[in-house]
Amino acid sequence: MKVLIIGSGAREHAIARSLRADGGITQIHAAPGNPGIGHVAELHEVDALDPAAVAALATRLGVDLVVVGPEAPLVAGVADVVRGAGIACFGPSAAAAMLEGSKAFAKDVMNAAGVPTGRARLCAGTETLGAALDEFGTPFVVKDDGLAAGKGVVVTNDRGEAFAHGNNILASGGRVVVEEYLDGPEVSLFCISDGTTVVALEPAQDFKRVDDGDEGPNTGGMGAYSPLPWAPSTLVEEVLETVARPTIAEMARRGTPFQGVLYCGLALTSAGVRVIEFNARFGDPETQSVLARLVTPLSTLLHSAATGRLADLAPLEWSLESAVTVVIAASGYPATPRIGDPISGTEYAEGEAGVHVLHAGTALGDDGGLVSAGGRVLSIVGVGDGLTAARERAYAGVDRIGLEGSHHRTDIALAAATMEDR
Ligand code: AMP
Ligand code: GLY
Repeated sequence: MKVLIIGSGAREHAIARSLRADGGITQIHAAPGNPGIGHVAELHEVDALDPAAVAALATRLGVDLVVVGPEAPLVAGVADVVRGAGIACFGPSAAAAMLEGSKAFAKDVMNAAGVPTGRARLCAGTETLGAALDEFGTPFVVKDDGLAAGKGVVVTNDRGEAFAHGNNILASGGRVVVEEYLDGPEVSLFCISDGTTVVALEPAQDFKRVDDGDEGPNTGGMGAYSPLPWAPSTLVEEVLETVARPTIAEMARRGTPFQGVLYCGLALTSAGVRVIEFNARFGDPETQSVLARLVTPLSTLLHSAATGRLADLAPLEWSLESAVTVVIAASGYPATPRIGDPISGTEYAEGEAGVHVLHAGTALGDDGGLVSAGGRVLSIVGVGDGLTAARERAYAGVDRIGLEGSHHRTDIALAAATMEDR
């Protein structure tokens, strides 16, 4: 099987790495990729937001499957045009990707399907914004209705800050969603679907805030781990039953079947499981931890989903080991990341600490050396017998990386590891 991966982050590097480890693949291509992905795949240039260009590349390469990593190409219709060219594609159509592309649309689908989620108001002006803030009270949750790369959400007790965030979105022509605050631990569950059948991966937990102790602004994600020793054993089946299957059925009923991965961002509240958000793609950095534990060949899973044959797939097999991912971020991330700094120690970390070093914001400098090129620079993945061992390995890898001014959280999976060890 020949595969083309679209994207250039650590999530796409993790996908490429898993495909490389899987015997069923003869060629892996990636576009645009990054230097780390270049170690496991052949790289090509493409404008990932140009559906015709992606389909033309896939046709020229003669691939059997295109895997679209990020949300923006999906919302732009890349999967539609690739499928239209007769090539199997893992990733939803533009219409189905609206589950991520518009929070108001996702709420509408959830309400129609009876999926448990927080109450929300769509606000088109400052008057309705103010009224919605007062209706739900503190903590205030204010979101950009559209795609905002993880930065559209503000959760705060400060009404002035909440109002200002909503006002900024309105002023730039966007629509604002104000939501009821959902309290409780968060879980990311990736549900793979071919449009009809749904298969869940193992749950993971992400760390969204930039600093230890969940302080500081939201980011795209600073680390993740899997499995979740504290989660109820019935969680996955409950989410399949109450969230994923009803959503997939509602999308099919609307004539816009969802094929790809429905990322269920959940809060386990005292009143039960609630959906915080849907995404139409794998999560980053959760994927780095989840795929590190998947034993079933990834190509089989993705190809079955892309060709409507998930019902024939044997139950997924998982490693009993744990995986912890720590993100190394550039100085200034998330506000204004500094780029162009030399990165050292990646091979040393892999060789000595035994981690996977997955590239996100990296590039090759003029002298051919690795330099930073984005906010989240590397994902360091440690696998071990239990979360404590996986953490030790991941942080031993982090310690071997040199990047001036970089920062990372030191408490990824710490509470869960402590609980597991007791
Ligand atoms: P989102 O982009 O919708 O996932 O939001 C990013 C993060 O903001 C989530 O992972 C939560 O930590 C937080 N968040 C979003 N919506 C809510 C909510 N309704 N209640 C509590 N926290 C939320
Ligand atoms: N880790 C959060 C996301 O991928 O949206």
